[in-house]
Amino acid sequence: MKIALGVTGGVAAYKAAELVRRLQQEKLDVQVVMTRSAQEFITPLTFAALTGKKVITEMFGAGGAEPANVESAIEHIAVAQRIDLLLVAPATADILAHFAQGIARDFLSTLYLATKAPVVVAPAMNVNMWEHPATQENLQKLRARGVHVVDPDEGYLACGMTGAGRLAATDAIVEKVRAVLGLRRDLEGQTIVITAGPTREDLDPVRFLTNRSSGKMGYALAEAAARRGAHVVLISGPTDLPIPESVDWVPVRSTEEMRAAVRERASDANVVIMAAAVADYRPTAAQKQKLKRGDGGLTLELEPTPDILAELGREPVRQNGRRVLVGFAAETDHLAENARDKLARKGADVIVANDVTQEGAGFDTDTNIVTMFLRDGRELPLPKLTKFEVANRILDQVLEGQKR
Ligand code: C5P
Repeated sequence: MKIALGVTGGVAAYKAAELVRRLQQEKLDVQVVMTRSAQEFITPLTFAALTGKKVITEMFGAGGAEPANVESAIEHIAVAQRIDLLLVAPATADILAHFAQGIARDFLSTLYLATKAPVVVAPAMNVNMWEHPATQENLQKLRARGVHVVDPDEGYLACGMTGAGRLAATDAIVEKVRAVLGLRRDLEGQTIVITAGPTREDLDPVRFLTNRSSGKMGYALAEAAARRGAHVVLISGPTDLPIPESVDWVPVRSTEEMRAAVRERASDANVVIMAAAVADYRPTAAQKQKLKRGDGGLTLELEPTPDILAELGREPVRQNGRRVLVGFAAETDHLAENARDKLARKGADVIVANDVTQEGAGFDTDTNIVTMFLRDGRELPLPKLTKFEVANRILDQVLEGQKR
């Protein structure tokens, strides 16, 4: 498949070189198009060397000393008909404005108007430019037109400011391209049950026991699996997250409710992923009336909750290999021992373990640093990745396990 990669003038332009490589690894034929200002940041030669193709830098000719040439304009415009997708990364506020307004001021903006291929933009700019109503309105317009936007990441920006505006990770851009091109529907036909978020165990009508889980990991899994074509049942404890598109969303509150939902939905699932931080203990008896303050201390009596994952792990259906079970282990110490112990004790096929004390891992972050522990004894440590990327790696592992 052929794609045109538009590179515009932002500091992140250098990242487009790596992007070309990754797109080529996906067997995509890449034609690079550069705006004039992009060439201030990186030379066309870099992209020509990577792609083995002349980079399009001008509407009427190869640029530089070459005279204007109508043949090359026609030839270039033919690119619009040939490509399967137009990707712009990094996309400046300026190119988004031109796209939104339909102003064909140079080759790239002309290509945008001339092509019927899907368009993906990965904006990158200073945080104030990103947040400016003009930029946001332009993006809204483009989205409404069906343009796919790979939102920028938050972080330290070249201008010295911190905030949203950093070009999304290369993997996230490639994922979007693959998804838009429909290249990765490898979970089609599978039903995947995913649990996410915390549970709440009531003490009395106004108080409950819970934990710091944000649900981000489980929601990322749900989104990734749905994009790859799975039928996703997302059983979620209380979270503030938007419901991912095209998933079957089942809200629950307590461990008992989560258990009932999992048991009901897991029976015809090919894969069950327990990413929820399920309470291990609950008050022995929730009080009907609000507990009153007294002078002395208060001792709560807690009882263990049913271990949903272990219950599934014991079911004979697992034995005929019809269902892959994935559990999580959030640990503060002895990560490997605890993970291996859970693998055996819960009858899981994979335990995804993370040390929640590590920076960039665990609760309420957008990244995670995990190691996958497999039944066959293998340990697969992953670098720090976004939760979406971690989700895709887990799903890759599930697929690999099903093939064996
Ligand atoms: O034993 P621990 O709670 O650390 O195990 C974590 C894994 O077990 C997670 O996958 C979690 O969703 C699952 N779990 C469960 N039911 C419980 C407690 C944990 O399914 N009651």
